[in-house]
Amino acid sequence: MSRIESLLRAMTLEEKLGQLNLVTAGQAATGPIVPGETTQDIRAGLVGGVFNLWGRDVVARTQRLAVEETRLGVPLIFCLDILHGYRTIFPVPLAEAGAFDPLLWERTARASALEAACEGIHLSFAPMLDVSRDPRWGRIVEGPGEDPFVGTKFAQAKIRGFQGERLSDRGALAATAKHFCAGGAATAGRDYAAVDVSERMLHEVYLPPFRAAVEAGCAAIMSAFNNVNGVPMTSHDKLLNGYLRRKLDFDGVIMSDYTAVTELVEHGVAADLVEAAALALTAGVDMDMVSGAYLRCLPEALARGLVAEADIDAAVARVLRLKERLGLFDDPYRFATPAEGVQEAHRQLALDAARRAITLLSNRGILPLAADVRRIAVIGPLADARADMLGPWSAAGAAENCVTILAGLKAALPACDLIHCTGVSIEGDDERGIELACTLARSADVVVLCLGESAGMSGEAACRATPGLPGKQRQLAESIMATGAPAVALLSCGRPLTAPWLFEHAQAVLATWLLGDMAGHAIADVLTGRFNPCARLAVTWPRDVGQVPIFYASRSTGRPPDANNFYSSKYLDCPVEPQFPFGHGLSFARVTLTNLRINRLEFTLRDEVEARVDARNESEVATEETIFLFLHDVTARVGRPLMELKAWAKVALEPGKSKTVAFTLTAESFSFPGEDMEVMFEPGAFDILVGLSAGRKNLLTASLRMIST
Ligand code: IFM
Repeated sequence: MSRIESLLRAMTLEEKLGQLNLVTAGQAATGPIVPGETTQDIRAGLVGGVFNLWGRDVVARTQRLAVEETRLGVPLIFCLDILHGYRTIFPVPLAEAGAFDPLLWERTARASALEAACEGIHLSFAPMLDVSRDPRWGRIVEGPGEDPFVGTKFAQAKIRGFQGERLSDRGALAATAKHFCAGGAATAGRDYAAVDVSERMLHEVYLPPFRAAVEAGCAAIMSAFNNVNGVPMTSHDKLLNGYLRRKLDFDGVIMSDYTAVTELVEHGVAADLVEAAALALTAGVDMDMVSGAYLRCLPEALARGLVAEADIDAAVARVLRLKERLGLFDDPYRFATPAEGVQEAHRQLALDAARRAITLLSNRGILPLAADVRRIAVIGPLADARADMLGPWSAAGAAENCVTILAGLKAALPACDLIHCTGVSIEGDDERGIELACTLARSADVVVLCLGESAGMSGEAACRATPGLPGKQRQLAESIMATGAPAVALLSCGRPLTAPWLFEHAQAVLATWLLGDMAGHAIADVLTGRFNPCARLAVTWPRDVGQVPIFYASRSTGRPPDANNFYSSKYLDCPVEPQFPFGHGLSFARVTLTNLRINRLEFTLRDEVEARVDARNESEVATEETIFLFLHDVTARVGRPLMELKAWAKVALEPGKSKTVAFTLTAESFSFPGEDMEVMFEPGAFDILVGLSAGRKNLLTASLRMIST
């Protein structure tokens, strides 16, 4: 008999329910702690896992309660939200996605896993794989942006990075793909709000990253808070049992989000907690995070016949199997060695990741800063903001490890006179500091204007109806620009910020997002030209919140936007085009693409389709460019998006040099969900579009035809 079978036989109902109970630790001034009542519950075998607790001593002490003081000695699993770093903090995921670099995505997850495993963590509540096309939604910051293909690559890389070769390796963490699913489509961009999406959108946009995560072997999945088409995800039998378990064969652990099981009552699908617990369990949710409803109410649900003991056993077996895969039965005190933990190499990686996440949105020639710049006014509420650079979900990261923009510039430009004031606060109403800021600006060669959001303005429950510059920052920026001083604006933010006036007037604007520990050094490297920016937008940047949801992969309409046709799909008061398209991002080089060609004009699914394009660096600066390949299925039974990303390539180009870049398309590239949502192929015409962004003006196109499947 296997260990899991014999444990299941030996367990009382209460002990079984204990395994399904995931509890949070408390927080004291000195760090995370286990409150007294939780200690008692652990001793009684009523807890399966603990989150928000880290550190070798406290984790070992808590684990000892489960291993040495409970009847069966089943170890606890320790979990934490490790979205973009554990102690070393990397850029927020939306920014990191802009590097379009799966190896980098994997390396930052690996480094985070090593650091966290060293301090007792076994499972990360990440990666967050919610595709989102709505910058009002605060959680857009935690994910891979708007595109499902990017989402799938992001999922694969992060899961490889967290889980490594084998979960039982001491430096590996179990990954949790979350939030399943479609939270990025929350009504009006409001967190937790209802989600109404078509089956087609689910299968084309929101599910693919999760499918990729399952195929990559991810150990756990967290169900989302939101409902999908009326059914809360915590009780969504069709998507949890049906899609994940039966269709994808997912045999890992599904956990609820924080108190989401009890919230089934608020959702209006359960009359009481007993029904709530039964609904969640029978829909496929194995672990109940924080609500305690499984522990308290499943016995009554059993008595009422709402669940069978077999349902409970199946969930417990999955939790025990995860603990077994992690090697916890053999070594409940598994810690990575301290040498694998925080290392100087991780800070170097954080610097590299931060540089690669900075998106140069516009540049009227002011950047890189001229060598003869002597006096720089570093103005704005984000200039010397330490904790804000870390962004939301910064795990065990510490503000004191974070290099501010001001500190980074000081280190990079020791011979320069750097003068600084905040001008205004991030969100406040007080404009009195603007005058001093203007005086400083007038006396400087260049102003570096540090604008944006605090760390708390994105992330969970941090949605914004008007995602522009908060507080009086616009007044500050306009006053500075009115002085005539050349200004470079940096946007520290967790989402695209609508500010069309800024793009019109600033000499350059960079999205510097929330870059983590090495923010200041990375920004200084880009401003001074030591690093040539290479990031691209993983999300379309709107001009106006009224354009939201806005994304490049829009579907065709019978009346596409047409300036000469009143009865076309447009606005009266705003262009249809975004401020910047998906994939936009400048460098200090100038690269042209020419000569797109494909190896065959007609193909079947057995053929390999290859597209090639020549990229030439017309400038005197070495550069690294990202080239995107989109596909348009011209005629199909179901109208296809005008463009769908199917591949991208990164190419390094020395000044004046050219390279040929090749893309290979697979049969899957030409597939789409048919009417029954099963994968289908339809012969007919396709266009291939290749360019440096999804901006339609500068794309090279070639046509081909699928002649049979
Ligand atoms: O993992 C998170 C989730 O993303 C949002 N609610 C809380 C969970 C645990 O911290």
